Formats: sequence, structure tokens, C-alpha cells
Amino acid sequence: MTHPQPDLAARALAEFWADMGLEEGRVLSARLLARRGTSATRSQERAPAPGNLQTRAASAAPTGPRPEPRRLGNNPIADACRLAAAANTLAELRSAVAGFNGCELKKASKNTVVCDGAFDAPIMIVGEAPGGEEDATGLPFVGRAGKLLDKMLATVGLSRQENVYITNLIYWRPPGNRDPSPIEMQICAPFLMRQIELKQPKLLLTVGKFATHAMLGRTDGIMKLRGRKLSYAQDGLAAIPTIPTLHPAYLLRNTAEKAKAWDDLRTIARLCDEMGIKRGPGL
Ligand code: URA
Repeated sequence: MTHPQPDLAARALAEFWADMGLEEGRVLSARLLARRGTSATRSQERAPAPGNLQTRAASAAPTGPRPEPRRLGNNPIADACRLAAAANTLAELRSAVAGFNGCELKKASKNTVVCDGAFDAPIMIVGEAPGGEEDATGLPFVGRAGKLLDKMLATVGLSRQENVYITNLIYWRPPGNRDPSPIEMQICAPFLMRQIELKQPKLLLTVGKFATHAMLGRTDGIMKLRGRKLSYAQDGLAAIPTIPTLHPAYLLRNTAEKAKAWDDLRTIARLCDEMGIKRGPGL
């Protein structure tokens, strides 16, 4: 396999470690490079059906501490389902989300943030929610965390230009970057499920606890789930292999945890190779 820019992955890896301190990063890089290709991908595991994105969207039952006001008629989830089902392409779906007024977060947002990357990319990343820079630009993962995510992907020859499509659980910024609420996730879920249906990605990556729990219906901590080959189930679709990993915003706050993210990236790279998903050589 050849890569158009052989230095790219090396530079991305150096930058990935850079803020850990030169010595620590250098030692870790050397250790990791020495270990390249040695550990095996864990076997595929099936996520339990109850509690996944589909079940939550279908049940339409708020699980948060107190219900939030609903705006469209009395069931924005039903409206989201109807609009999502009517979209026959990802471009139509994007417009449908932008025109949807059923999520309260939209009122205080500058932009609707749906997706970025190639529509035909074999890999789909699901994050949590837009932050300030995403709200300002209308694109997911373009702030500090997004830049780190791009570097992480580049270390294993992946990019949103070539083989990765990125979206989030919700499409508007929660005020003060608070966690997305259960009802916000439920209202947006029909659009996410329709994106998956229209795209049919070969591989899903969930970043962070919220996306992992919502997509897989698991409640185990992200540290237990990360780096494992799990499975996303949705009616009418074949099961999609899914690997959870740590959220880049968490890695920015906890740089020592990058070693775990690097392990996950190598698992992702191995799975891509096993599945015939084309990528640059990475490291
Ligand atoms: N964090 C996310 O989960 N998504 C974004 O788009 C940006 C930051």
C-alpha cells in the first residue's frame, strides 16, 4: 500500500505526542513503534439490543431528571422521524436537519452542525455535540479537539478527505458545552439513524462515553469499552462493527491517556486492513 504523503503519519504521530513533554513523548513513541503490530484484535462482541439508539428513539420516552418543553406539536421525535424518513440522500437529510425546529438548542445556536467528510467514506465517526467553533463554522470537530482527532486519524492513514465521515449525536451546541440531555439525543436520533441507513458505513467509531453509550446501549465505563470490536444494530441493516475510543477533548485534558488512544488507533487500523478498508500506511 502506498501513501501519497509518506511523512504525514509520522508528523501526525509526533504532534499527537507533542504536548506530553518531549522526553515522555519520545520514550512512548519509541516504545509504541517497537510494539507495532504485536497485539491481536479482540474478538467481535455483540451489543445487547435494549437501550441502543434505535430503542431509545422508538420509545420516545424522556429519561432525564425532568422533561423539557416540546416545541413542534407535542412530539418533535415523531417530526424528526417523518423528516428523516423523507430524505433520500445525505444532502437531503442535511437540509432536513437544518430546517427542523424541534430541538430547543437550535434557538441559541448560530449554525446547525450535521456532518463533514466524504459521503461515500467507509468509516463513520460519531461524536457528542458541537462546541463553540463547530457552532461558528457549521462543521463538526473543527476546534482543538477536532484538530487532535484529525492528527489521531492521520497517524493510521485516515482522514475526512479520504475515508472518514464525521457526525455527532446532536446537531446544535449545548449552552456552555454542557452534556447533551437524554431528550436532545432522542430528538436527534432519527436523523442519526437515517444517516447510518443512507451511508451504510463499513465501520463505526464512537468517540467518548456519550456516543458509545447511545450507539451501543451499553452502560459500562468508556475505559472498559474503548478499543473493543463491538457491534451496532439497527433494524433493516446488517450489524456494523463498532470501535469506541476516548474523546479527543478528554485527551487534551489528560494527555497521559494518549497511550490508550494510540492502542485503539492501532486496533482500528488492523480492523480496516482485515476488512479491506483502504487507508494510508500510517505508523
Ligand atoms: N466534540 C464533539 O463531540 N463533537 C464536535 O463536533 C466537537 C467537539
